[in-house]
Amino acid sequence: AAAEKGGYDYFMLKEIAEQPRAVADTLLGRFTEQGWIMLDEVRLSDQDLRDVDKVFIVACGTAYHAGMVAKYAIEHWTRIPCEVELASEFRYRDPVLDRSTLVVAISQSGETMDTLMALRHAKDQKARVLAICNTNGSTIPRESDAVLYTHAGPEVAVASTKAFLTQLVACYLVGLHLAQVRGVKFADEVAAVVSQLQAMPAAVEAVLETMEPVRHLARELAAAGSVLFIGRHVGYPVALEGALKLKELAYMHAEGFAAGELKHGPIALIDQGTPVVCVVPSPVGRGVLHDKMVSNLQEIRARGARTIVIAEEGDEAVTPYADHLVRVPVTPTLLAPLVATVPLQVFACEIAAARGHDVDQPRNLAKSVTVE
Ligand code: G6P
Repeated sequence: AAAEKGGYDYFMLKEIAEQPRAVADTLLGRFTEQGWIMLDEVRLSDQDLRDVDKVFIVACGTAYHAGMVAKYAIEHWTRIPCEVELASEFRYRDPVLDRSTLVVAISQSGETMDTLMALRHAKDQKARVLAICNTNGSTIPRESDAVLYTHAGPEVAVASTKAFLTQLVACYLVGLHLAQVRGVKFADEVAAVVSQLQAMPAAVEAVLETMEPVRHLARELAAAGSVLFIGRHVGYPVALEGALKLKELAYMHAEGFAAGELKHGPIALIDQGTPVVCVVPSPVGRGVLHDKMVSNLQEIRARGARTIVIAEEGDEAVTPYADHLVRVPVTPTLLAPLVATVPLQVFACEIAAARGHDVDQPRNLAKSVTVE
């Protein structure tokens, strides 16, 4: 078993370390020399894709958080309305679907029963279903009209890490492809994103190389009663994912919030020393968001929070409000979850280990949930 873990103590650590390769493999062979997205396995004609007037993303757990990020990217690049919904809620709500709806089902295992039931419901309503999946020939891709495989390789640890990053990549590819096929409003931006995506494996690698202080901090905080996570825009799903990892692995109370919602309730939770992980948007591009986050930081700091700030290199505005500062490489806003999530994975893994838990096999959880 030690050999299977490639020298790491846990599969999760091995899988975290494999992320640059997983991201690179998921990008491999999916671009033409001219920078066009080429998704040959997606057996939906360009005409089908041009007819899409609504996108619904369905998924569970970590895959749902990837879907939340996808919504920001797909709507921005394609201007097609996109909703994301927990698979377990989707079909019981009687969603409005038809032939021109594209339903994207995201699942690492391809066997999650709630997601499978959601896709069957979508097909009954004549929607077209595209699966984003990590497991060749599993049920969800077999029952879908089309599939885009993530190439994370087998994921063994129950808590998803490399599969999540590759789900993000697949979602970006779907968004960019839809944008290109439909004739883009943001053609220049899409072309730029295509080249920025190619730089992401190196960016993830750079984050991994700077994780020692995060491990140290995790050990310091291992006895905390609760940890809060806040983010804005695509940083919001990253905050939710950070909190989910901590619940799954460390059995700690952890909650993620949209930073703008703080004042509507969650700020009452903040007490002297409450650890709050803040996923700060890039100051470049969407500067307004960044400034709003800096005021959130000020507010929670004033109420006693111990702030753990994930911010871009060179973002000095956050420094006065950060008890702990984790730097990530400068990354376009929509792609930032690929780098911002990594420290949160390391953080949760290390806290769980410090608390003496089985990182790879958390209590009460299964790698794939094949009951509804
Ligand atoms: C379980 C796993 C999670 C995973 C979720 C969805 O809850 O513990 O890590 O995110 O299922 O799994 P899927 O295979 O559909 O991505």
